[in-house]
Amino acid sequence: MSISENKLPVRGKMITFEGIDGAGKSTHIAMATEFVRRHGKTVVSTREPGGTPLAEKLRDLLLHQDMHLETEALLMFASRREHLAQVIEPALARGDWVISDRFTDASFAYQGGGRGLPIAKLEALEQWVHPHLQPDLTFLFDLPVEVARARLDATRTLDKFEQERTGFFNRARAEYLRRAAQFAPRFRVVDATRAVDAIGAQLQGWLGELLESRP
Ligand code: TMP
Repeated sequence: MSISENKLPVRGKMITFEGIDGAGKSTHIAMATEFVRRHGKTVVSTREPGGTPLAEKLRDLLLHQDMHLETEALLMFASRREHLAQVIEPALARGDWVISDRFTDASFAYQGGGRGLPIAKLEALEQWVHPHLQPDLTFLFDLPVEVARARLDATRTLDKFEQERTGFFNRARAEYLRRAAQFAPRFRVVDATRAVDAIGAQLQGWLGELLESRP
């Protein structure tokens, strides 16, 4: 067997999309997935809460059932633990790229900023569940809460989080921006009020840089 056949695959990259509800992430997640695939990578496109059969069951509870704030945070991290073990870690180890619609920054923004759970408790859960893993790149879709609210489709039933008031989303947005400043090297803040094409072009520029970067 030659040396090259013995080599472990180069670890894949993890990209996360974040932002308050109504920020317009979905279209860009699909476009980014296609873009990275066109560049020859195998991409696992996934979401949180969710991404495995068990985590999707937890998602259903989390989005539709009232519960204690700490229960909510613990279930978010329980579903994340499952998602990491079943999907994210194996994919990265195979050399695949992972694109996730939300990850731990959402827990800081929603349970921490929005609901007011002490940040130190979330940091403890993060240390427990993924002490050595952070996304390589995080796109934070940022826009005023009023604009995001107007975008949420008025004709469909809103889930538990989408029904929250303006103050909740302003606090979530502020926590997202605080984290973007604290962890600036991995965050790219996207002005989500702009047209889809303009945002898409900006994302492709950043994705191109990551595709060209060293493993
Ligand atoms: P989605 O609708 O973008 O898929 O996200 C589901 C909802 O769950 C969204 O309102 C944000 C919320 N959420 C949290 O509150 N904490 C978390 O850790 C995650 C991942 C999502």
